[in-house]
This record gives sequence, C-alpha cells and structure tokens, in this order.
Amino acid sequence: MNILTFRSTDELNEAGASIITGLVQTNPRAVLGLATGGTPVGIYEEIVNTHRKGMVSFKSATSFNLDEYVGIPVDHPESYRTYMNHHLFSHVDFAPERTFIPNGNASDLEQECARYNQLLDDAKQIDLQLLGLGHNGHIGFNEPDHALVSGTHIVKLKDETREANARFFDSIDEVPTHALTMGVGTILKAKMILLVVRGADKAEIVHRALNGPITTECPASLLQTHPHVVVLLDTESGRLF
Ligand code: GLP
Repeated sequence: MNILTFRSTDELNEAGASIITGLVQTNPRAVLGLATGGTPVGIYEEIVNTHRKGMVSFKSATSFNLDEYVGIPVDHPESYRTYMNHHLFSHVDFAPERTFIPNGNASDLEQECARYNQLLDDAKQIDLQLLGLGHNGHIGFNEPDHALVSGTHIVKLKDETREANARFFDSIDEVPTHALTMGVGTILKAKMILLVVRGADKAEIVHRALNGPITTECPASLLQTHPHVVVLLDTESGRLF
C-alpha cells in the first residue's frame, strides 16, 4: 500500500486527478470506478481542467459508480446521477451510454442489482476504483456489519451515515434510508484502488482502516488485502501515521 500525504488540498486533488487522467491517457478504454461524496469534488474539478486543456479524452472509457440512493428521483439535486452530471459527466466527453450508476428507482431493486452485477461482469475488471471513506469505515455504501456482501446489493443506511449526509439535504428526514451499492467483492476485484481521505475528523478511521485489524466491522480495512492500493491523505487525516 502506497500512502501519500499532502500539505494542501490542491496538491492532493492534482495528484488524484493525474493518476486518473494518466491511466486514461495510456489506456483510453479504461474502466473507471467512480465515487461521490464531498471528497472527490476537487479531483473531478482537476480532471475537467485537464480535459478542457485537451490533454485527456474519455470518449472510449467506461465508468461505474459505486452507489446510488434508493427512492429519490434521478433528477433530484442529491441523487448521485445528478452529482456525477454536475461535477464530471456534463463537462467531459464520456459516452453517456457508458456511464453506469445503479438505478435506485427501479421497480424491482433485486433485479436492478443483478443487472448492475451483469454489467460489471461484462466489463471484466475495473482498472481503477476511486474511493472515499465514511466515518464508520464504510466504502461505497458497504456499512460495518458482521458479514459483508460481495456483489451489488440493497443496503439500509446506518443512522451515522444518514446524519453525515444530512448536510447535503434540507433535513435528516429527507436523507434516504436505503441505497444500492457495489459490494466489497467487486471493489476488491479492481486492478487498482485509489482511496482519498481528507479532514481531521477522518484521522482515526483512516488509521484504523489501514493499520487496524481486518474486519467486516470496518469495511475499508479489507483494502489491506488488496495488492495495489494508493492512498491520498491530507495532513489532517494523516496525522496518526
Ligand atoms: C458517502 C458515499 C461514499 C463516500 C463517503 C464519504 O456516503 N456513499 O462513497 O466515500 O460517504 O463521503 P465524504 O467524502 O462526503 O466524506
């Protein structure tokens, strides 16, 4: 595991973006696993800048998002489809039919999970999976539990996750109770994992995830078993290393 700590958020974002754009420059048909949340916003901004300079094209690439809320309209300001359109897809040249996000409004959610798993199987392997980290150690929406699910599945969000994400909604009551998420099996199958963590409030969990016991009670700790993980931290989140 390669852990890099940055003094400034700008440097961290530039490093994250250049890993992703560098991959797509060498492999235009790359399959990217993408994440949402506050952490990757600056990385997406940098990617958009690089694209605007004509230095990278995503027209032959494919993307799979980690997760999506259940039960909010796809055009809701806080749906992950809206987030991805806003921060990345509407500014770069991905082919829309190759940007996959689970459909949290499907009438049959089990069937939707099976469909997403099939798409992932057809794509063979994600070349790079971008990940943020939840305060409780979740990756995607794989919440701490006594057992974890390998493939895409429906998850009931923990209270702490809904509280953490309430900042994006008008009130906690509006935060969905469930989500669809790629499973940890799929995440760990990626060729490379890029974990990005920022902020003093994540210092303990990132230390626990990367140095503590490997346990399903901290899903990110399973990343310790992966052969190619790059971790980007700012000074605050990396203060316990
Ligand atoms: C969210 C997302 C995760 C994200 C995490 C941290 O709930 N489902 O993919 O990595 O929580 O989010 P943030 O970067 O906003 O702290």
